[in-house]
Amino acid sequence: MPQTIIVLDFGSQYTQVIARRIREARVYSRVLPFDTTLSEIRKFKPIGIVLSGGPASVLIRGAPKPNKGIFKLGIPILGICYGLQLMANMLGGKVEKSSRREYGRGKLKILRKSILFKNLPGELTVWNSHGDALNKIPNGFRAAARTENSSFAAIEDPKKKFYGLQFHPEVEHSQKGSHIIQNFLFGICKCKGDWDMDDFVDVSIKNIQAQVADKKVILGLSGGVDSSVAAALIDRAIGKQLTCIFVDNGLLRLNEREEVKKLFKDHIPGKLKVSLAGPQFLKRLRGVTNPETKRKIIGKTFIEVFDKEVKNLGDVDYLAQGTLYPDVIESVPIGGNPAALIKSHHNVGGLPKKMKLKLLEPLRELFKDEVRSLGRSLGLPESVLMRHPFPGPGLGVRVVGQINQNRLKVLKEADAIFIEELRKSGWYSKLWQAFCVFLPVRSVGVMGDERTYENVISLRAVTSSDAMTADWAKLPDSLLRKVSNRIINEVKGANRVVYDISSKPPSTIEWE
Ligand code: XMP
Repeated sequence: MPQTIIVLDFGSQYTQVIARRIREARVYSRVLPFDTTLSEIRKFKPIGIVLSGGPASVLIRGAPKPNKGIFKLGIPILGICYGLQLMANMLGGKVEKSSRREYGRGKLKILRKSILFKNLPGELTVWNSHGDALNKIPNGFRAAARTENSSFAAIEDPKKKFYGLQFHPEVEHSQKGSHIIQNFLFGICKCKGDWDMDDFVDVSIKNIQAQVADKKVILGLSGGVDSSVAAALIDRAIGKQLTCIFVDNGLLRLNEREEVKKLFKDHIPGKLKVSLAGPQFLKRLRGVTNPETKRKIIGKTFIEVFDKEVKNLGDVDYLAQGTLYPDVIESVPIGGNPAALIKSHHNVGGLPKKMKLKLLEPLRELFKDEVRSLGRSLGLPESVLMRHPFPGPGLGVRVVGQINQNRLKVLKEADAIFIEELRKSGWYSKLWQAFCVFLPVRSVGVMGDERTYENVISLRAVTSSDAMTADWAKLPDSLLRKVSNRIINEVKGANRVVYDISSKPPSTIEWE
């Protein structure tokens, strides 16, 4: 068991960010529900505990509280925001409703030499988000820092090694926040900082084995980063008990099915079932032009095909998914945040429920870059790990209007040329996403002595850090010229190429 810091989760949207900051410092962290029993916590032999923030007030009845015994374990505890108020409240301090709420930026003034603020400037900009105020600290504690609105922005009982921060050190807007967390880890908990992704692999393998026991697991493989890494990890853990199902919906990119097969052949020894369902999807999509209807048909057909494949396998208990932490927050509406709703259609919801399967999501606590480094630890190739995202409905949302074999062929060939040129020029890795879109618009051209009347291909290339906002990429003229020439010369059925210069918002990345 690696040196472990337990993060008790009181429901803050930043809990996993705390865990991530700890992992970044090369210390293993485990997020557990706030009401985890003491004996369960003890099993991890933690060398420190962090109490996360949370939306509740400690003043309400039934406010989430940890087992009081954690304060008797003799290990350091750091309370953040709600965690600080909770600790103070449970140890005899006084939290009250405040008339002066503290939201957003604040100036933190450090009041004394505290290990938490070791090697930091005397003043820091920090990010707050709390309504209640700590007005009296428990016996044994002292103030270590204050802000304009709060005399107890940081408190400590160095003897017992209890620390509290009213602000959020884990968020990027808090200056030197990671440094403060590292002071807790290294200065107070005495962590060694020698943990890495190989250790994560070891721990995950044990967890997966313990959860699954001798049951069977299926995984819907898309060929993207997340599901490929999940497949490789689970394969290491349970080998033959895992079957990966790859549904070829006929809406894949050029050679995609072969690439997935090759990935398995070369890197994942486990079972891969390829379901050839293209004709079924295309039949149902015939004549359909409405983007939402297309998405629904594709989603529903996927579930049917997948369901049938699973039934063929006999008794399966678990559905494995490569869900990442950002997918988790994006599918939970936080404070009515519309971002959550924009993305809701991306999840294949309903699948586990319909199939009465339990979920196995070993990447649930990780962020994308962490999944990539996990994939590296598992020996997956860079070409898979650095792949651009690809939507579940595939080329179905990139053929504008009606979908048919001919249009798909034109799109696949054009798209392959665009991606090949982006890779060759080194642009691929600088972009969030790049692809071609087939436009059902015909225009006149001239090739040799002949008049042509063919379709339009639009190139889309965007930069983004999270797909919530995106900007069109300023690709060099020479590259655009080359791609355009190649597509028009090599792809039968396209005689005009345009470049999409719309940002998101107001446009979206995909066209449908
Ligand atoms: P939009 O077009 O909404 O896309 O700006 C944002 C990001 O999400 C991807 N996307 C999807 N991914 N299933 C997915 O798994 C979907 O239905 C889906 N629709 C869009 C899109 O490629 C971009 O990265």
